[in-house]
Amino acid sequence: MQNKNIIVGNWKMNLTAKTAISLIKKIKSSLSRTDLNNCNVIVCPSFVHLQIVQKELIKNIALGCQNIFWEREGAYTGEISTKMAKNLKCKYAIIGHSERRNILNETDVMINKKIKQCQQESIIPILCVGERQEERQSGHTNRILKNQLLKAYHEINLTKFKEVIVAYEPIWAIGTKNPSSPIDANDAAIFIKEVIARNKRIKIENIKVLYGGSVDSHNISNFLNEEFIDGSLVGGASIKASSFTRIIKNSHK
Ligand code: PGA
Repeated sequence: MQNKNIIVGNWKMNLTAKTAISLIKKIKSSLSRTDLNNCNVIVCPSFVHLQIVQKELIKNIALGCQNIFWEREGAYTGEISTKMAKNLKCKYAIIGHSERRNILNETDVMINKKIKQCQQESIIPILCVGERQEERQSGHTNRILKNQLLKAYHEINLTKFKEVIVAYEPIWAIGTKNPSSPIDANDAAIFIKEVIARNKRIKIENIKVLYGGSVDSHNISNFLNEEFIDGSLVGGASIKASSFTRIIKNSHK
């Protein structure tokens, strides 16, 4: 993915078939070729909208899913396999989002298994890590991040992935209109890159760290101006074409 910023739209459990198609159509029509050449855009609709959105994709807009299951196939009611996702042209999967960790009790062990399964199917995981407010206040941010990273990537050879992407998403900043300061997000990005490079023996420049948490079209450039932040994972502002396309237009390197 060279040196372009990566902008991921996490549509979460929003939209209907009709509004999902309308959103992707509006995103496409509002972006120029230059916008798309300067930035890697990934959209992550709900599973049930992957197929219809995939039909609308154009060059430089890729598809991701918001989760996957860790087994290849079988009796796992309600789950979605990497093979199914791959079949629908998903190149990426968001793994370990804090909403899944906190609401659905997803553990580091499950996240590790999901990343291993992504590797089997050559899907690139976008691993989400981040601390709670009280962990930040008591000075434990780095310890939490290191623990999440090492457990998520346990016994995984990251050199086999085409790209290593981590989204730093402090939990207190998600959906709150209270983003991290760009400097703090940059410090976390440096720390994440160092931990991975040191423990997984890959070059720092091959690790991409996105910032996520209350990103909008006004604050995006403050984050991207920071040296170690390579893009953003956008939630709320990604389901409105006008705000998402403004974020992309403000994300040129
Ligand atoms: P937000 O969500 O942009 O709405 O804060 C980010 C995320 O959860 O990925």
